[in-house]
Amino acid sequence: MLSGRRIVLGVSGGVAAYKAAYLARRLVEVGATVRSVMTESAVHFLGAQTLAAVTGHHPVGGFWDEAEVSPHTDLGQWADAMVIAPATAATMAKLATGLSDNVLIATALATEAPLVVAPAMHTEMWENPATQRNVRTLLDDGVTIVGPLSGALAGGDSGPGRMVEPEDILTALTEVLSGSSTEASVRDMDGYAVLVTAGGTREPIDPVRYIGNRSSGKMGNAIAGEAARRGAQVSLITTAAPPSGAAIEVVRVETAQQMADATWERAGEVDFAVMAAAVADFRPRQAEDIKLRRGDGLPVIDVEPTPDILAGIAAMENRPYLVGFAAETGSMEGALRKATEKGVDLLVGNDVTRAGSGFATDTNEVTVYAPSGESDRWPLLSKREVARRLWDRILEDRKPG
Ligand SMILES: Cc1cc2nc3c(=O)[nH]c(=O)nc-3n(C[C@H](O)[C@H](O)[C@H](O)COP(=O)(O)O)c2cc1C
Repeated sequence: MLSGRRIVLGVSGGVAAYKAAYLARRLVEVGATVRSVMTESAVHFLGAQTLAAVTGHHPVGGFWDEAEVSPHTDLGQWADAMVIAPATAATMAKLATGLSDNVLIATALATEAPLVVAPAMHTEMWENPATQRNVRTLLDDGVTIVGPLSGALAGGDSGPGRMVEPEDILTALTEVLSGSSTEASVRDMDGYAVLVTAGGTREPIDPVRYIGNRSSGKMGNAIAGEAARRGAQVSLITTAAPPSGAAIEVVRVETAQQMADATWERAGEVDFAVMAAAVADFRPRQAEDIKLRRGDGLPVIDVEPTPDILAGIAAMENRPYLVGFAAETGSMEGALRKATEKGVDLLVGNDVTRAGSGFATDTNEVTVYAPSGESDRWPLLSKREVARRLWDRILEDRKPG
């Protein structure tokens, strides 16, 4: 897929710039033609001569001293895809606001090719609200963001902010290039019926209050939307606002019981059931008819278990291919146990305490478990990208033979 493709590699000024040379080499090895553009800061971390030697072309560094009259538009129009690796917080901020005061940003703005961004920075910088706001803007603008990973950082620190490995960037480039050329025509789910649950259930305590959770429904919406886009007939059982612009049957529910009833009613008729909703494990045994008042003293809320929707489907005689989700906090042991004991075909686990992962974010970092316990950890991706990879994996798994 990358062979014969024209890739612009943008390098900004972070320690991970040293990895850009290896990325360039791998791109050349797989047959891509690479041209590079460096920010002024990047040159402090990686010699321009190194990139020139690896790619066979001198990196572009400024507007004014280049052989080309307009280096940014030349590069932008030449590119089949552009990747910025590493992308500093500063470069992402400029990109998010269109502040093209260097050739790297100007090239990114001047190209119509898909753009992949691989952030790299210290954890505090990555988790800063300004950076997270810029990430959301870039995702909204259609930029593919890969990573960062959690791991060793410069200066002996450790945490989220580490740039993904060059191989992950190659994969992302391959995917955006295949996506951009076939986006409108991938209909590999034609004829399949799909059931997706999304959102967080609400278990009433009284007419005003409920036991709920922080799920926004974004992950389930992305999964349902992706399946519909690929041609499947999709039913979405949700407590949240459904995705716009997708041909989906939407069933609005509120409680775990309503979600269970709606899901079980349909599960026997579909090929795939992806249970992405965050369902309450327990509910008040008795919801009060009138609002509890402070003056009445502290209430004692007696709880009972809610129906286990996943177990109900797993026990069906003619059950669909079943995917469960597990939101974990810290350790992923619960997800692994759920994968091996719940009778699912695939279990998607995520640690909702990690930055950019889990509830109400536009990104997610998940590990996919098979019933055998075998696992596959994906880097931080947009929820749309997680949905795309998940359906690829499910369809691959489902292949006969
Ligand atoms: C030793 C050192 C390491 C740095 N590493 C990073 C980094 O990993 N990520 C980051 O966002 N900024 C890092 N910075 C700060 C950027 O170099 C600085 O914000 C610069 O303005 C980025 O410009 P650019 O995005 O145009 O390359 C580092 C600075 C120094 C001095």
